Amino acid sequence: MSEQAKADVPLLEVTNVTAGYGRGPAILNGANLTVAPGQVQCIIGPNGAGKSTLLKAIVGMLPLRTGEIRFKGERIDGLRPDEVLRKGICFVPQERALFPKMTVRENLRMGGYVLEDKAQLEERIESVLEQFPILRERAHQHAGTMSGGQQQMLAMARTLIIEPQIVMLDEPSLGLAPQIVEQMFAIMHMLRDRGMTVILVEQNAIVGLKNSDWGTVLDLGTTLFEGPARQVLDDPRIQELYLGKSAAAA
Ligand SMILES: Nc1ncnc2c1ncn2[C@@H]1O[C@H](COP(=O)(O)OP(=O)(O)OP(=O)(O)O)[C@@H](O)[C@H]1O
Ligand SMILES: [Mg+2]
Repeated sequence: MSEQAKADVPLLEVTNVTAGYGRGPAILNGANLTVAPGQVQCIIGPNGAGKSTLLKAIVGMLPLRTGEIRFKGERIDGLRPDEVLRKGICFVPQERALFPKMTVRENLRMGGYVLEDKAQLEERIESVLEQFPILRERAHQHAGTMSGGQQQMLAMARTLIIEPQIVMLDEPSLGLAPQIVEQMFAIMHMLRDRGMTVILVEQNAIVGLKNSDWGTVLDLGTTLFEGPARQVLDDPRIQELYLGKSAAAA
């Protein structure tokens, strides 16, 4: 990703956002994020930095106190989560948000609830099952009875149903065995190669940045700095501030 490409019209732009829960203190304190299309952009930062809160603010689950969010130049702050989804921004939360008592196929159908054309919805479900044979095998199994890796695969595959422009993944590797984590990143790269832009939140900075094109560092609700993932990874500030624990775990 070149500086030039980064300078083009951003797909998503978060500017000076402050937000918090209810009447509580501000969790985001002037967060900024610029996302160029067609890449995996990783947001890293320590525990409690506000990474998940930032994603929630983007999808309209948390009102902004100040600042603005633009998608393709258009303000989206103030929209409801379903309206943000219809615009083309899909959020896979940390807890994956599957329906455990519904089958794999039913979960895929729920993922497309905003699609008006039900014939098109069924076509997209078939196409996803085509691409993920394990999900086809398990189409009638309750999602909650599958392994963590299979559930994460379902949560990510489900985003394909609405063909969003941006997919936001909050800690998709959490609780998965290393081999499964690799599979999960392969699916993430597949989403990117199919033209989607991925925003990846990772607590493990090394793993996150190695699998991304661009990195943004968040701490205490503020964007500290950003750059090409490789460069952020090698930045001494990261080594000191963030990689102590993650480096040992990677
Ligand atoms: N629903 C909530 N109500 C009140 N405070 C919350 C809520 N969710 C998160 N917080 C607080 O907001 C701060 C940032 O949390 P957040 O989950 O955004 O951090 P994070 O960077 O995603 O951390 P982690 O790496 O642990 O997932 C924390 O102090 C947390 O206690
Ligand atoms: Mg989080």
